[in-house]
Amino acid sequence: MRLTFDQEKRVIKRLLEHLGASEEEARITAEVLAEADLRGFGSHGILRLPYILRALRRGTIIPNAKMRVIRETPSTALLDGGHGLGHPVAVRAMKLAIKKAKKTGVSAVAVRNTNHFGIAGYYAQLATDENLIGIVTTTTDPLVCPWGGAEPVIGTNALSVGIPAEPHPVLLDMAMSSAARGKLVEARKKGEKIPENWAIDSEGRPTTDPAKALKGALLPFGGVKGYALAVILEILAGPLGGSAAGKEVHGTLEPISGFSTKGDFMMAIDPLVFGPLEEFKTRVRRFLDEIKASRKAKGVREILLPGEPEFRTRDRHLIEGIPVADEVWAEVNRIAKEIGIDILKEIR
Ligand SMILES: NC(=O)c1ccc[n+]([C@@H]2O[C@H](COP(=O)([O-])OP(=O)(O)OC[C@H]3O[C@@H](n4cnc5c(N)ncnc54)[C@H](O)[C@@H]3O)[C@@H](O)[C@H]2O)c1
Repeated sequence: MRLTFDQEKRVIKRLLEHLGASEEEARITAEVLAEADLRGFGSHGILRLPYILRALRRGTIIPNAKMRVIRETPSTALLDGGHGLGHPVAVRAMKLAIKKAKKTGVSAVAVRNTNHFGIAGYYAQLATDENLIGIVTTTTDPLVCPWGGAEPVIGTNALSVGIPAEPHPVLLDMAMSSAARGKLVEARKKGEKIPENWAIDSEGRPTTDPAKALKGALLPFGGVKGYALAVILEILAGPLGGSAAGKEVHGTLEPISGFSTKGDFMMAIDPLVFGPLEEFKTRVRRFLDEIKASRKAKGVREILLPGEPEFRTRDRHLIEGIPVADEVWAEVNRIAKEIGIDILKEIR
């Protein structure tokens, strides 16, 4: 099953609007989910739609949410997302950070009362589109074990940093776990094994079985350093803005009885406050060119920059269409039927 970028966006938007989302909320959420699939981050694309639709139906995500700034200084803000769809809330937060950084040079926005926002890189790229540096992080339900631990206490806490460059920004966009949880879900759906360093089972033993891993914990990326970084990000995205941390974070995987307790944190930096933009970009370009031209290890054809693999996948998917797993498509169809929508009409 393949969908074009536009078809995927139309399907998602229609379903979200049907469940009460405003046109803007539905458009942004559809855009970010479809963008994830375009970039090859299938774990954060339409795969997440059934969860969002269930949460909207249960009332744990509030459509047409009222966001409000709780506290503000010229360079900071604390945004209350009104328990709305996480994607439009995150867009609002980064747009606010961009506006403030253009005035003050550096800005930080913390977000509470929001929901899962998908790919962190989408929001960091909103900053690079404006020639700013963007930094984005978030929390999730506890899925990652601490270094030496045997149970999940820390989120997968995505981190994205975007640096303006041409033709694409340098875009780090990653989970703190060795792999995003969605990749385990994808592997289980496809009946595939996972690499040994991704997760432990409920007894704390390394496992290659995604079903057992989903009952255990994900391992942090990069050993003890990934663990340490994940702790720091959880504090920035959680307690700093008055959101939860550790086992108190919930609602990012499945709709639960209450609202999600997760938080986000975003920063924008205007390179202009340190000197002319073109000089910065030239220095960055020189560094990137040096990396690309550097001596390669045996058997390696090309050295890629952070974000490059995803921008290439994006170009390919725009031409070939976005692959959607049969199971995911079937589930989206099932929910669409339940709420009285003919999804095939949307992709004609
Ligand atoms: N919203 C949330 O709560 C949440 C939580 C976790 C992850 N996520 C998202 O999940 C997505 C996937 O995360 P992931 O950790 O699985 O990503 P990944 O492991 O596929 O990629 C991580 C980073 O490594 C870079 N990279 C990969 N191969 C490269 C190469 N050969 N050369 C140079 N750079 C390379 C990528 O460009 C990317 O920046 C991200 O978009 C992330 O934001 C979201």
